[in-house]
Amino acid sequence: MRIYLDSNATTPVDPAVLEAMLPYFAETFGNASSIHSPGQRARGAVDAARASVAALLGAKPSEIVFTSGGTESDNLALFGVVAASQEPRKHIITTAIEHHAVLNAAQALEKLGVAITYIPVGCEGVVDPEDIRRALKPETILISVMHANNELGTIQPTDEIGRIAAAAKVLFHCDAVQSAGKIPLDVNRLGVDLLSISAHKIYGPKGTGALYVRSGTPLEPQFHGGHHERDRRPGTENVPGIIGLGKAADLARKNLMTDCARVTALRNRLEDALLATCGNARVNGNRAQRVSNTSNISFHAAGGEALVIALDLQGIACSTGAACSSGAVGPSHVLMAIGLSPDEARSSLRFSLGRTTTPEEIDQAIAIIPQAVERLRALSPLSANAELSA
Ligand SMILES: Cc1ncc(COP(=O)(O)O)c(C=O)c1O
Repeated sequence: MRIYLDSNATTPVDPAVLEAMLPYFAETFGNASSIHSPGQRARGAVDAARASVAALLGAKPSEIVFTSGGTESDNLALFGVVAASQEPRKHIITTAIEHHAVLNAAQALEKLGVAITYIPVGCEGVVDPEDIRRALKPETILISVMHANNELGTIQPTDEIGRIAAAAKVLFHCDAVQSAGKIPLDVNRLGVDLLSISAHKIYGPKGTGALYVRSGTPLEPQFHGGHHERDRRPGTENVPGIIGLGKAADLARKNLMTDCARVTALRNRLEDALLATCGNARVNGNRAQRVSNTSNISFHAAGGEALVIALDLQGIACSTGAACSSGAVGPSHVLMAIGLSPDEARSSLRFSLGRTTTPEEIDQAIAIIPQAVERLRALSPLSANAELSA
């Protein structure tokens, strides 16, 4: 049996999503910008998908810009706001635990002369809104804080950050790639001006996403071409991908509460069993303020990469952290930001459950993982060392 516990990296395309997409590859292949009827059929389907994505976010359809995924949405938000700003000096506030799609975009902007403040987090992996407030400067043009962290699952106090941003008249961008479909999203309650989502994290296709842009938010397009997406993102629409995102958004909205309760129970069962049987293991980040599906655990003295490979050989897919940084040499920037030592960070695994995870799979995982941890610990020079540091 293959047990897939890496849903924060990606999710399978839901059969209903695939079914919705299929006609738009060959049968209804028109260009959504063409005025003839094949084009208009594609346009109608794109508009319906836009309405579905808007409904998931509590937004107006006109505020949805389709993109090639979470990375492009984040880049469009940061670069687009900077390019549209009239401020002679520009300052952005973000956090040390953002996804690289935001962090590396911020670093690229730094090279262009934009000042960036990276707010640190404590061991809980949750940003203190007061730190955001204190970092505000007269030249601050944007606050970018993620909703749920991809490695820890921790939920950030976005409502409060939204209020701080509104009071300071600063734009607020939120990377909601990992919270969409897991917690209810409402752009007005969150107080965001821009919000990123990605289809492949919510059982849609890879390479499709959206950026919510509140009406009236100044945003310069980052590509140059035609007048697509109301002049905010040129390029012939990826019609099958957009239809897939629309269907995935419908399913996410309808299944959210049932998925959440079921997955929380399975995640907690897995986590409690691993903590009880593995000894010298601990959960990283705040356990209460987390999305339902994620558990990040340090297994002292068991190398994370080796553990991922050993578990893969036994049919379990999980991760050492962000999919994009797996294989990267350094320890996770998120785990380092919450105060883990490089060794502790390297001995951590992320389990992220999904809509298709079954109780039988969790039982299997509970039987397999502790044995793999024990085997690796027996080989580790670190295993003689004392407990994990507090
Ligand atoms: C929080 C977060 N933001 C952005 C992204 C990038 O999204 P995409 O893979 O669609 O480019 C990811 C993907 O892992 C993510 O977890």
